[in-house]
Amino acid sequence: MLSRRTFFKAAGVSAAVAAASASFPKEMLAWAEPLRAPQPGGPILLNSNENPYGPFPSVLAMGNPFQDANRYPDHHSERIAERLAALCKVASECVVTGCGSTEILRVAANAFTGPGRKLVTASPTFEALEHYARVVHAETVRVPLAADFSHDLGAMLKAAGNDTGLVYICNPNNPTGNVTPRSDIEDFIKKLPKTTYVLIDEAYHDFVPASPDYASFIDRPINDDRVITARTFSKIYGMAGLRLGYAVATPSTARLLQEQKLEDSLNALVTRAALIALDDTAGHHQARQRNAADRDEFMRQVTARKLTAIPSAANFVMVETGRPIRDLIGQFRQNNVAIGRPFPPFETYARISLGKPDEMKEFWRVLDLLPSVQ
Ligand SMILES: Cc1ncc(COP(=O)(O)O)c(C=O)c1O
Repeated sequence: MLSRRTFFKAAGVSAAVAAASASFPKEMLAWAEPLRAPQPGGPILLNSNENPYGPFPSVLAMGNPFQDANRYPDHHSERIAERLAALCKVASECVVTGCGSTEILRVAANAFTGPGRKLVTASPTFEALEHYARVVHAETVRVPLAADFSHDLGAMLKAAGNDTGLVYICNPNNPTGNVTPRSDIEDFIKKLPKTTYVLIDEAYHDFVPASPDYASFIDRPINDDRVITARTFSKIYGMAGLRLGYAVATPSTARLLQEQKLEDSLNALVTRAALIALDDTAGHHQARQRNAADRDEFMRQVTARKLTAIPSAANFVMVETGRPIRDLIGQFRQNNVAIGRPFPPFETYARISLGKPDEMKEFWRVLDLLPSVQ
């Protein structure tokens, strides 16, 4: 069983076994043991883009979490799919739910990549889809981000031939946190081969400030069979440990995804929690505002130290520290703070997930303790 904890190790192993053309850079494997499970006095976790505030208070007040634990969850799965369909203004056959959006990425890799059906992805970006493509023996072409850190859609288009089964666009992108403009993505999709699917990963959608450059492909659909949009309850809803994600696609594409799904991969607890969270628009608004305030404060601290950071539309920020990232991670670890792993080729950038204000104070205190590089 592949856990997030062992993800990069397993990716390395399967790369060897599958002898796929692309492999995870070795240095990424060295950071394969992210710190998990906060313990009293344990490290401050600024390394996995989680929501430090947890689920909305309305969810925490939901009562017996084990209600229905003895029953199979089909009824719950149907209800959440219907509720998500209403939210996204689509028919329920357009919604595919999963055990986190990671399951969506996996079923998309299974459905649309394989030998002779390659994956085109950015670099750096979230790597789970690349891993699952490798498992099904698909070649991956990684296209470096453009100089402004957006997806280099021109280069991705050149890389995408008739043998490309799937393109991955993470928007906002993890680890850079920035947005690739909506109009550019739309133009790109129009020019792609007719048999190439596009997965737009909107895991961080809820944190994006209003901008003419951004519109979700769920909120403003283009009614194209090739487009799949993924979202998750792990970020704004603070439920990374409960596992729920979903995709929206046209009915025929959703069917192709559905075929690859594990039966009953949702559980009663997460679906009931998600139904409460979706009804709590005030909770959502508050979480969004709080993240924006935390992000603004983070940027103020960046500026005060004459550092630079990639403008973030997410719940994490990629900071140019001027220091070798591997050393920096070790120094933070010694001070009980976990920060994001290295993302080659950004050797001096640190990806910092936003924590609560007191956690961020500690982060800055530790950074200020470190010897200056100037
Ligand atoms: C861009 C992106 N997509 C998907 C995921 C997976 O999220 P989950 O499986 O928890 O929904 C993450 C997790 O960090 C992510 O950053």
